[in-house]
Amino acid sequence: MKKKLIAGNWKMNGSLAANETLVKSLLAGMGTPACQVALCVPSVYLAQLQALVAGSAIGLGAQDVSAHDVGAFTGEVSGAMLREFDVRYTLVGHSERRQYHGETDAVVASKAQRALACGLTPIVCVGETLAEREAGKTEEVVKRQLAAVIHANGHCISEIVVAYEPVWAIGTGKTATTEQAQQVHAVLRSQLHAASNQADRIHILYGGSMNAANAAQLLAQPDIDGGLVGGASLKVPDFL
Ligand code: PGA
Repeated sequence: MKKKLIAGNWKMNGSLAANETLVKSLLAGMGTPACQVALCVPSVYLAQLQALVAGSAIGLGAQDVSAHDVGAFTGEVSGAMLREFDVRYTLVGHSERRQYHGETDAVVASKAQRALACGLTPIVCVGETLAEREAGKTEEVVKRQLAAVIHANGHCISEIVVAYEPVWAIGTGKTATTEQAQQVHAVLRSQLHAASNQADRIHILYGGSMNAANAAQLLAQPDIDGGLVGGASLKVPDFL
């Protein structure tokens, strides 16, 4: 069985001093983890984190990557730049990027493609809003979001990580029930199976108010292969 992957998403939080304290405490408390661990941090801190996590079990992650290779794209960071800092993962299509930065399914798909081309593992985020869930459109929405990424990436799809994050559960303290989460994960798994004979290798993470109290139950579900943890990743004992 593959190891679970627990990825922290710091979002726009941190400072040089706070990051150092947080990472050193995590490393001190972590021992040899039974799961894979990643931290997705603001890009200005990648150099700091590269030094802090060097040689440890923590894999470095970014929160976004440009869909472009190089050139006149002010404010963007390319996959090749991320690789220079030993970055292994990058979030792609987080709902906050879709919502506040107008990222479409097509943009998200090409970001995933660029990440793979640069040797990064894209953690592709999908998830429905509350209005979409209430309208009975959850499956339709997440399948459409994932289909765009599958279409753009063909057989490389087995190299991605998928994160199911119901938008209504992000930062709200409202977690999807284990049944709700498992149900959507199973839908995503079968969609991946239809696209690749390696679908069992793909980690499908749950995200949205995952915390120390609910993680074990969510992670016990057959199709939940890990977590994408926001708020709780900033608190050492909770993340540990
Ligand atoms: P949360 O965030 O754990 O604070 O809900 C998860 C995420 O947005 O990745």
